[in-house]
Amino acid sequence: MATHVLSEITADGIATLTWNCPGNTPNVFNDTSLGEFIPAIRELLGNPAVKGIIIASAKPDFIVGADLTMLLAAKNLTKAQFLERVYRLQGIFREMETGGKPIVAAINGTAVGGGFELAMACHARVAADDPVLRVGLPECSLGLLPGAGGTQRMPRLIGAREAIGLITQGKTVPATKALELGLITEIVPQDQLLQRANQLVRTIEPVQPWDKKGFRLPGGEVQSPSGAETFVGANAMMTRETWGNYLAPRLATYAIYHGLQLPIEAGCKVEARGFVELVFNPLTQNMVRTLFFRMSEAKRLKSRPKGIPTAEYRTIGVLGAGLMGHGIAHAAVTNGIAVTLLDVDLAAATTGKERIGAILTDAVKKGRLTETKAKAALDRVTPTASFDDLKDAELIVEAVFEKRELKYDITQKTEAVIAPTVIFGSNTSTLPISGLAEASQRPDQFIGLHFFSPVEKMPLVEVILGAKTSDETLAKSLDFVKAIGKTPIVVRDGRGFFTSRVFGTYLVEGIAMLAEGVHPALIDNAGCLAGMPMGSLTVADMVNLDLSHKIRLQTKADMGDRYQAHPADAIIDFMVNQGRFGQKTKAGFFDYPADGEKRLWPGLTKQYPPTASQPALDSVKRRLLHIQAVETLRCMEEGIVTRPQDADVGSILGWGFCPFYGGVASYIDYVGAKRLESECDELADQHGERYRPPALLRKLAPEGGTLYPA
Ligand code: NAI
Repeated sequence: MATHVLSEITADGIATLTWNCPGNTPNVFNDTSLGEFIPAIRELLGNPAVKGIIIASAKPDFIVGADLTMLLAAKNLTKAQFLERVYRLQGIFREMETGGKPIVAAINGTAVGGGFELAMACHARVAADDPVLRVGLPECSLGLLPGAGGTQRMPRLIGAREAIGLITQGKTVPATKALELGLITEIVPQDQLLQRANQLVRTIEPVQPWDKKGFRLPGGEVQSPSGAETFVGANAMMTRETWGNYLAPRLATYAIYHGLQLPIEAGCKVEARGFVELVFNPLTQNMVRTLFFRMSEAKRLKSRPKGIPTAEYRTIGVLGAGLMGHGIAHAAVTNGIAVTLLDVDLAAATTGKERIGAILTDAVKKGRLTETKAKAALDRVTPTASFDDLKDAELIVEAVFEKRELKYDITQKTEAVIAPTVIFGSNTSTLPISGLAEASQRPDQFIGLHFFSPVEKMPLVEVILGAKTSDETLAKSLDFVKAIGKTPIVVRDGRGFFTSRVFGTYLVEGIAMLAEGVHPALIDNAGCLAGMPMGSLTVADMVNLDLSHKIRLQTKADMGDRYQAHPADAIIDFMVNQGRFGQKTKAGFFDYPADGEKRLWPGLTKQYPPTASQPALDSVKRRLLHIQAVETLRCMEEGIVTRPQDADVGSILGWGFCPFYGGVASYIDYVGAKRLESECDELADQHGERYRPPALLRKLAPEGGTLYPA
């Protein structure tokens, strides 16, 4: 049987327990590894020949936490059974710190989640000076909380104020920051790590600070004035950030608040109960599924067509050096790919390069990039106005103005110079790919590569298959997306593709409510309270109402009689006629005074007076989410999106749809097909056919079917 934990004892009684989970995986807590670790450490603690213990790792990382598959499988146990397991792990950590033998964690690489909880249960933590090493408790970012004493030990080490911030936001930190905070004891060169651990284990006291008489919580006790300030502030901040939608940070704060007023064993019990509550909550299960498993599968290109060799890129061409073009070029050059950046004239292309320079300088200032790397990245950009300079490009991304004729023209000029095998990707946000591919001599090599703004921050690329796009083009385009550090979802062609189409319903639904007399403040706040990153009216102002207006005119022209008018159309027309285009022009649904925060434009309620009786908050929230659910189901029915995981990953990364539901497909399953069908029928009767359940929902509803297999 493969061994997960190796034990060695030197002649002078220093034992080293080395984690080495078999296979090509990092060290994780699972039934097998803990099944070996627990008896091994217990045996060392009980062995009189052992004078001190070092916990080390044979893998590049220290330990990266619990195996999340095990957590998802916990629903097969009863809560009581699972709670017993949690207590068992907490118990062994407590035995470690009270066993009378000094224990040192030799942190050679990243130690997060359970891995760092184990390290905190040691009497000293020495870390290697590796810049990629991170430590911390990221559980809350997946809807969980640290369940192996992390909420109790971290604040006892560094104080409640810092610990709450790190734990509730699931933040991990590099070793230097960890040392500054007091999370680790010292940093040493990687090759001296074990040697230093060996010295430390012979000198340190085998007692935790909180087990010493007279221990005072760093930064002040919970019931002191500064403690009260910490917790009141933390709650206020959490509510502002999450609008109360996330259970995990609330339960983590609860465990910290109550646990710090109790002996550590009792505090761990409070934590354990919160942890079990979360593990058994279907929303946590959805979050873990999407944010951990499906996201990492998308990043690893799990659905890439098989049997096609991986493409590597050294030089690409980006057409258009504007907002999107310079962002896409930035992503490429920071990942080692040279870019020929083309615009109408050299001055425009050079401006694009300068904008890339500005992003790089900012990253250097914030310590995210070294000056040498920034310079090397900028040197990879060659601005030009000449198509001939594209001849060596191995892939093209087009990001010129959203005009079909212009895109046709550019495609042909580019194809005249590039090699016959080169893929042509269009970053169009609205124009169907199959139509744009008509301008190409090689429609099988034409694909949509839809980036999001600002490109340097937004991780998603919506990869759109045209009617003739080949599997090889798809595979090699996905290789490109991965090479520039982005996450792809693959969708089929259709107006607005998936992300813009569904996100658009949120925007226009909020706008349409104005004409029904819903107060604009209620519309915008209901969106945030429902879990969207911004209210509909705020986003509409940011996107620019003039742009929405132009896209609609184009859609209408393209669709002719098939265009279905939306109640928001007239409102957008009104705004555009008033010259109120949005944030860019400092006038939209909101005013944007130079000296303060945005305020609702008073003219809005004059034009659309709110009715005396306002709809209930919950009903507004439901409408704003259900409309997106229905549109997603339509996309699935039409084959634009075929798999729920693409809808989930795309909706969270693309437009920030309620991560706590696990994305829009998980939301549909969470609400349940039957309930969604009847509520949407009701909404359709009241507000219009756009809510009417599509056939897919009608099919799922009677059997209580789900998009993900049950
Ligand atoms: P932009 O106006 O900032 O940039 C367009 C650039 O194309 C300008 O620098 C312009 O000089 C250049 N250009 C125009 N004609 C050209 C020609 N003949 N040859 C070379 N360059 C030419 O526009 P933006 O926002 O960057 O949009 C570009 C494309 O990306 C559009 O198709 C848009 O729909 C799409 N898109 C935009 C998003 C956004 O948030 N702005 C998001 C996703 C896609």
